[in-house]
Amino acid sequence: MENNTKQTDKKITIAIDGYSSSGKSTMARELARRVGYIYVDSGAMYRAVTLYALRHGFVGHGKALDREALVASLPDIHIGFAAGSGTDGVQHTLLNGEDIESQIRDLEVSSYVSPVAEVAEVRRALVRLQQEMGLDKGIVMDGRDIGTAVFPDAEMKVFVNASAAERAGRRLRELEAKGEKVSYDEVLHNIEERDRIDTTRKVSPLRKADDAYVLDNSNLTREEQMKWLIDLFDRITGIS
Ligand code: CDP
Repeated sequence: MENNTKQTDKKITIAIDGYSSSGKSTMARELARRVGYIYVDSGAMYRAVTLYALRHGFVGHGKALDREALVASLPDIHIGFAAGSGTDGVQHTLLNGEDIESQIRDLEVSSYVSPVAEVAEVRRALVRLQQEMGLDKGIVMDGRDIGTAVFPDAEMKVFVNASAAERAGRRLRELEAKGEKVSYDEVLHNIEERDRIDTTRKVSPLRKADDAYVLDNSNLTREEQMKWLIDLFDRITGIS
């Protein structure tokens, strides 16, 4: 019988970074399930802060972000995860105890998240929380700065990429499946704009860590990319 869950005594930290809609979250979640690790979606945390900012009018309707008001509210923003709380069995993001999973994935939150993620105080607060979550290792976290700023000592670092057109196509299919009415051009524009802000911001810009393995999944199936990850995990943990 095939055993899909791999376990070793030595738990490591796995950092998966990459561009928006590169499929990081799906592969990170699946990898965590296969190796029996915790999965943390750091992007969901920035999205949760953005939803809070939208609800309180700190940003929105083309208005520039009111950084001061957001920073002053940071002590009132509590983010957590509820394991498999949804009917889909997937981990859901909580904002002050409220399940906001379905609201943080739409194009409105996506349009404002990168400016929010540029705020140094927001990053400091979330990075601290992420580091606490990783204290015991045995964790897969995905984001933009996991291998560079959150876990610079992670034993396994992966940097994922795919062309912007490929990524926009994937995200469009995802949004359409949820019933959102958006065009390919809108989605592509959002992805290119986030790439631009994420790679050029002052604090922890998106970049490949020097010791990260690059995975370009433009032409890989989900199974091929999972095999690539599991092989790398086995090599690093010395299983094979
Ligand atoms: O799923 P997708 O790739 O579209 O994005 P995400 O991982 O949910 O992240 C949303 C946004 O949060 C990114 O575009 C970044 O601006 C920000 N982010 C960040 O700055 N640092 C992280 N570790 C994770 C996300």
